[in-house]
Amino acid sequence: MQDLFNFEGKNVFIMGGTSGINLGIAECFSERGATMIVASRSEDKVAAAVAQLERIAPRAFGFAADARDSAAVEAGLAPLVKELGAIDIMIVGQAGNFKAEAMEMSPNAFKSVVDIDLLGTFNVMRVANQYLNKKGASVINISAPQAYIPLVQQAHVCAAKAGVEMLTKVLAMELGSKNIRVNAIVPGPITGTEGMARLAPTEEAKENTRKSVPLQRYGTTRDIGNCAIFLASPLADYISGAIIPVDGGWSLGGLSQLMSG
Ligand code: HXC
Ligand code: NAP
Repeated sequence: MQDLFNFEGKNVFIMGGTSGINLGIAECFSERGATMIVASRSEDKVAAAVAQLERIAPRAFGFAADARDSAAVEAGLAPLVKELGAIDIMIVGQAGNFKAEAMEMSPNAFKSVVDIDLLGTFNVMRVANQYLNKKGASVINISAPQAYIPLVQQAHVCAAKAGVEMLTKVLAMELGSKNIRVNAIVPGPITGTEGMARLAPTEEAKENTRKSVPLQRYGTTRDIGNCAIFLASPLADYISGAIIPVDGGWSLGGLSQLMSG
């Protein structure tokens, strides 16, 4: 029987793929034979992520670019696509976050997160559009529960991720005729990540968060990677415009516990 989760011969590009959840997704694709391209701002993080992926499978590449800078994304991606061929699967997961009340933050603080998350997702999509496989491609944006659950100290993130989800849906409509599927994954609280370290820094907040998840546990980067593998596989060929929580049921109501410690 054909292995529907074998990605040998497929090129996967992950923006923000050098740490945390997105690097975990990259590992899942590497294990299944994909050729990986990861990118983020820090040269050092790119080099470390490429080395980590090469230990799983030899075909791993990367470049440094800020998603807010279209020209930098183009300059990094174009030569790699020339060398490796078109992109079959793209994951757009770069993000910024800090806790701050809306009226306490500067316009530039609000703008920085909206620009990284939302404008960055648009930029990456706009640049990569010309490099997606003409026979079809799977694009997965990484959202957050803040997109549809209002949360104090997260106005910037709520606004940015709500935009990412609406962008996902509109792009699914506009690109469907080219067999480009555009979906989003909404991770719950994922263990060992920068995002959770920033939002739930104390032991009390960590434990309250765990208890507020119906499945009573933090997620792992592999939980998110598994969903990305499914969405990129032929089993998901008729799924587009979907926003999929992978959160143990957390977004059903537990999110407010995040700010409790
Ligand atoms: C208030 C802050 C702030 C804070 C920064 N700023 N931190 N304001 N409280 N804690 C302000 C700065 O003063 C500045 O405004 C503006 O934000 C931009 O800051 P810079 O440091 O110049 O920006 P930049 O270098 O672009 O860094 C962006 C960043 C940074 C978001 C501030 O933290 C970053 O690079 N984050 C990437 C990693 C990350 O956040 N990962 C977690 C993703 S998790 P002024 O006015 O002074 O110029 C996630 C969701 C998790 O997204 C969901 C879990 C459920
Ligand atoms: P993370 O480790 O900080 O990952 C963010 C990645 O994006 C890093 O590789 C970072 O590398 C890169 N990045 C940040 N700003 C960038 C920019 N302007 N241009 C290009 N790359 C940039 O955080 P994480 O917690 O794993 O979060 C990953 C994704 O999951 C985010 O989209 C986040 O919103 C989402 N999410 C996380 C959780 C969670 O529990 N952690 C929950 C829900 C959703 P550089 O610093 O090198 O740029």
